[in-house]
Amino acid sequence: MSAKESDFLIIGSGIAGLLVAIKLARLGKVNVVTKKEKSESSTNYAQGGIAVPVGENDSPQLHIQDTLRAGCGLSHREVVEFVVTRAKECLDELMKMGARFTLEESRKGKRLALGQEGGHSVRRIVHAQDTTGRHIEAVLLERAKSLETVEIHENNVAVDLILESRIRHKPMKPDRCWGAYVLEGKTGRVNAFVARVTILATGGAGKVYLYTSNPDIATGDGIAMAHRAGARCGNLEFVQFHPTCLYHPEAKSFLISEAVRGEGAVLNTLDGEPFMKRYHPNADLAPRDVVARAIDSEMKRLGHKHVLLDMRPIGKIRVKRRFPNIYKTCLRYGYDVSKQPLPVVPAAHYMCGGVAVDLKARTTIDGLLAVGEVAFTGMHGANRLASNSLLEALVFADVAAKTASSIAKSKAICPPEVEPWKDEGTAQLPEIVLLDHDWDQVRSLMWDYVGIVRSDSRLNIARRRIRMLREHIESYYRAYKLVPDLLELRNIAYVGELIIRCAMMRRESRGLHYNIDCPRTDDLNWRRDTLI
Ligand code: FAD
Ligand code: SIN
Repeated sequence: MSAKESDFLIIGSGIAGLLVAIKLARLGKVNVVTKKEKSESSTNYAQGGIAVPVGENDSPQLHIQDTLRAGCGLSHREVVEFVVTRAKECLDELMKMGARFTLEESRKGKRLALGQEGGHSVRRIVHAQDTTGRHIEAVLLERAKSLETVEIHENNVAVDLILESRIRHKPMKPDRCWGAYVLEGKTGRVNAFVARVTILATGGAGKVYLYTSNPDIATGDGIAMAHRAGARCGNLEFVQFHPTCLYHPEAKSFLISEAVRGEGAVLNTLDGEPFMKRYHPNADLAPRDVVARAIDSEMKRLGHKHVLLDMRPIGKIRVKRRFPNIYKTCLRYGYDVSKQPLPVVPAAHYMCGGVAVDLKARTTIDGLLAVGEVAFTGMHGANRLASNSLLEALVFADVAAKTASSIAKSKAICPPEVEPWKDEGTAQLPEIVLLDHDWDQVRSLMWDYVGIVRSDSRLNIARRRIRMLREHIESYYRAYKLVPDLLELRNIAYVGELIIRCAMMRRESRGLHYNIDCPRTDDLNWRRDTLI
């Protein structure tokens, strides 16, 4: 087997990709390709924690109910039940691998300390202070690096999937995936990574929007690659905007966890009015879609560029102990959160839709699985409940590993001869600035026209403009040698158009999708997914 051949190819090294890699290691060779350094992922920045129903006054039933309520009628009940009832077992497994979460004293000794976030009726967020994701990522990387059969290829960007239909030059239904073409950042060479099973674990698509809590890797590559290959995708109109990102010209993407509101922090207008009481009976702990829309509406009503998040009610000692990363980071930007309120704005945070998968993590293309934020399992419906994403990734990583192992066991699964990547006739990109301009255009268009509040006319304009931009970007893609910036630009524009298409199809408002031209929820016609 050559270096680029393996039993399993995993694209992405966040919680989803690494867990699948660890679980598959004893079954064959695993190649993990990841587009920057190994640890650069949304997982690494997760703050709040993992929702697991382990509290004394909690139960899987209650967690299921809260998830379904947040999902506004679109969560698939069987998926929610599947995930939540496996939550405890998956958390235990993660702890056996070495993950340590914050503990507290109780009458019976030490137990997991549980945080509170919007939409949860009880405390159930297991966390490692306010850097839960960084801790999980470090534990998983340590484990993956110790496994001989797992090879992690950093600075390798997957370009597109290798499909049987393209090898045989004839349409196939269903098609079969045999790996991916991958751009090696250092050399600019595109290699064919051939595998019996390919697992997409590429995370989300926050960078489609001008303002986002996501790191730079979140350019929707997995969704774009899968959809270009003919896989079914769905519910892409449900983009979750996190209510509170730090508003500061240099604090790119810094999130202020919802958990701070769980401990007593309050959102105020610049005049000091705690406005959330006017929007929802749970005030600052209302579901995320409600809070983000309320902030958007207050900013528009008052003509303000941000609102204020007051963390002083938490108290200085507790802030420093419970949220040390937030405290230190804000101090670096000139804000002592124990003494003064913070300017915050909503920003694109999480993609509830994605590549459609079944309860075995299978996409509609044979040999291609998807897990983590890239996947649309049906769990989150029209709005994800806070801290349910890491949980979903944990549970579905286990499912994906089992499915991949049963596919790979079949002797009949043998990859065909794959042609090398062809780039004859392409030139070196003359100036990167050509791409920068288009990046800004796509992201501003999506922010201004396909944001928290949408309308038919804005969506129409957005669709026309994004099509023109895409044509233009595709011409670059055909004419120039590939560089990561060009690939990502191609993907944000592609996913942007898919989001617009889904948003235009849904003729109602529900959860995260709010269109002023059809503001009501229409259960009769639209209690269903948007599939494309
Ligand atoms: P990621 O962790 O994003 O990993 C994606 C991987 O794919 C990366 O390694 C990336 O380099 C790689 N990749 C992408 N495209 C390519 C390509 N073309 N080629 C090669 N590699 C590629 N959720 C919770 O449940 N609780 C929280 O407290 C929480 N807090 C959050 C805080 C922040 C700031 C953010 C941004 C998100 C938070 N979320 C939280 C959401 C959650 O972190 C993510 O949904 C989850 O970590 C996604 O994991 P993943 O493995 O699917 O993707
Ligand atoms: C947060 O800590 O507010 C993020 C939690 C999440 O996105 O689930």
